[in-house]
Amino acid sequence: MPDKGYTLATGDSGAYRLQILNAIHQPYSEFLLKRAGLSPGMQVADIGCGTGNVSFLIASKVGINGSVCGVDISEAQLDIARSQAKNLNLDNVTFTEGSAYDTGLPKESFDLVYCRFMLIHLNRPIEALIEMKSLLKPGGLLVCEEADFSKAFCQPSAKVYDICYEMLIGLASSRGQNFCLGIELYDIFNHAGFVNPEISFIQPVVTRENKRLIDMSLMEARNALIEAQLTDSHEVDKIISQMTELALDNTTLFGIPRVTQIWSRRVMSKE
Ligand SMILES: C[S@@+](CC[C@H](N)C(=O)[O-])C[C@H]1O[C@@H](n2cnc3c(N)ncnc32)[C@H](O)[C@@H]1O
Repeated sequence: MPDKGYTLATGDSGAYRLQILNAIHQPYSEFLLKRAGLSPGMQVADIGCGTGNVSFLIASKVGINGSVCGVDISEAQLDIARSQAKNLNLDNVTFTEGSAYDTGLPKESFDLVYCRFMLIHLNRPIEALIEMKSLLKPGGLLVCEEADFSKAFCQPSAKVYDICYEMLIGLASSRGQNFCLGIELYDIFNHAGFVNPEISFIQPVVTRENKRLIDMSLMEARNALIEAQLTDSHEVDKIISQMTELALDNTTLFGIPRVTQIWSRRVMSKE
């Protein structure tokens, strides 16, 4: 069955949201990649790279003797990534269109394959992990970060915040996707043939303007939510405006989705 596809905006319409997302997550991703073993000279693939934010971080770490290849299914995302790479004068990063199930990248060629916040948008995440595994050299590292929307919270608690996440989770499940996949990632790694993965959980708490991430996401999902008959235009617009208000309220703290960080080596003898 073909995938239902990505529900949020791509290209210019989604780039600012991904920038906020990256501003929040980059320190955690950087720490994870270092802990997993990212080092100068590595050949790396970033699957579902979006506008390239993590690809650029990785490119700066692998240096001139290393390289990064970002893959995304959306040309609109890749156009932004390519122009950003040019602005940043990065010669060791390239971007190519492809599906996570069939990237078109050469097999057994990468020291590290990475993906962040992409598997939750897929109908068959295990198949994507098997493709990623095939890209790794023997002993190469797979590093993933994936969200669990069910763990998001607002402090002080706010009904509209919970409703917003329930809607997004419902939207994913109506499309055969899973916005709570983070908790299943250990299991999924095992099913994809990774032995004894390393794992940790992180949960960023967000203040000030970064809290707009949530109403922006809801706005991008608005039409898909209506199409899925999970809401109507009147209700969803009211929720979006209440979420904006909640984000602009200096006294609220947003605990955004908990993230599973997981990494493992490709061990050929166990396959
Ligand atoms: C939430 S964005 C994350 C982007 C990036 N990894 C980051 O953390 O900034 C998810 C990305 O996955 C891409 N995507 C969705 N389904 C895909 C698929 N089947 N194959 C490759 N990319 C896909 C989308 O186009 C989007 O750019």
